[in-house]
Amino acid sequence: MKGRRVLIGVSGGIAAYKVCEVVSTLAKAGVEVRAILTDAAQEFVTPLTFATLCRHPAFTDKDFWQANHGRPLHIQLGEWAEVFIIAPLTANTLAKLAGGFADNLLTNTVLASNCPILLAPAMNTDMWEQSAVQRNWREVLTDRRYHAAEPGAGMLACDRVGAGRMAEPSEIVVQIESLLYTKGDRDLAGKRVLVSAGGTREHLDPVRFIGNPSTGKMGIALARAALHRGAIVTLVQSITGEVPLRGVRSIALTSAEEMRQAMLECFPDADLTVMAAAVADVRPAAYNSEKLPKRSLPNSLPLVPVADILAELGNLKQPEQKLIGFAAQTGDIVQPALEKLRVKKLDAIAANPIDKIGSGFGSDTNRAILINSAGKQVEIAPCSKLEMAHRLLDFVMAG
Ligand code: CTP
Repeated sequence: MKGRRVLIGVSGGIAAYKVCEVVSTLAKAGVEVRAILTDAAQEFVTPLTFATLCRHPAFTDKDFWQANHGRPLHIQLGEWAEVFIIAPLTANTLAKLAGGFADNLLTNTVLASNCPILLAPAMNTDMWEQSAVQRNWREVLTDRRYHAAEPGAGMLACDRVGAGRMAEPSEIVVQIESLLYTKGDRDLAGKRVLVSAGGTREHLDPVRFIGNPSTGKMGIALARAALHRGAIVTLVQSITGEVPLRGVRSIALTSAEEMRQAMLECFPDADLTVMAAAVADVRPAAYNSEKLPKRSLPNSLPLVPVADILAELGNLKQPEQKLIGFAAQTGDIVQPALEKLRVKKLDAIAANPIDKIGSGFGSDTNRAILINSAGKQVEIAPCSKLEMAHRLLDFVMAG
């Protein structure tokens, strides 16, 4: 994201303090950030806060009416921004956007820009649920340039527990990263994408299991990237520790067999399926429903193989469906990946070196060689798992 240009519009709500974290994260990642504060926003946060975090003066309506900018400020800012985000978005500013009003620097800049705009509403539950507010929300989202950072439910500053809580800053940052990548393009609109994530656990008893270090970050990044590109996403996840993603159908489970059942059930509807999960290859031959005392633990553990889910999906695959696998490898990564691509009848595979810096289990970054069934190979240098997810989706969509 280094050097990319993000404009943040802050309207007047208490969630404005959380937006400071969004700006801080972006600035630390090398993004150039500019902020516009409405008059109401300045009742909650100051231009100095944002100027300090942006490493650049923050803009207010006072600047809007200054005669010393040369070209009008809203035009300059509108042309400058690659992505515009309005957070928090109040009921009042939302109503202005829905009606096309422009009575301050923020709303004038909206009309003077053409980049994608991410909206992060935040308000009291009753306000959010008012039919006028809901109508305005639906209305703005009919305009393709607007993207939603849907508010969640939770404890609100007005002591209510309900809907209207602004999307988490970390989630907003991820959406910005996606928008910088896609420029707002929703090339997967209407497509059904099925992703598996995380490491399965094969229990010997309620407390002991055979597992692996997968955290599910790559699969979750894939689910997010597909969602941000307009897909209808189902995420089958095993032990990722992640809260369900807003807008994604999430199926949480533990064992390889449970994952197999879920994948077999969801697969027929999927246009594109990615098995990013680290699935066990074996499980203990017997399961004890009571915890085994130490003295009863066996000296060696009989194991039985578990089904290869991806191979099973490869046999069920219809011509219009796309199936993608991962090959987590040490040493030579290409040959084993080519073999898995062929044997499991995949359209593409991401060969993943897990023994190199900047990739592997739990890392926030990844690197891979993407290979498709036509023999095309593309090497992806270390990048964020979200970028890797977008690069993989690009690779698959390009055929
Ligand atoms: N996979 C699966 N079901 C399994 C094991 C693996 O669906 N029981 C999928 C993984 O999700 C991944 C791909 O198969 O997309 C390759 O997994 P990997 O563990 O690299 O390969 P294996 O086929 O298990 O072969 P090996 O362990 O011998 O490398």
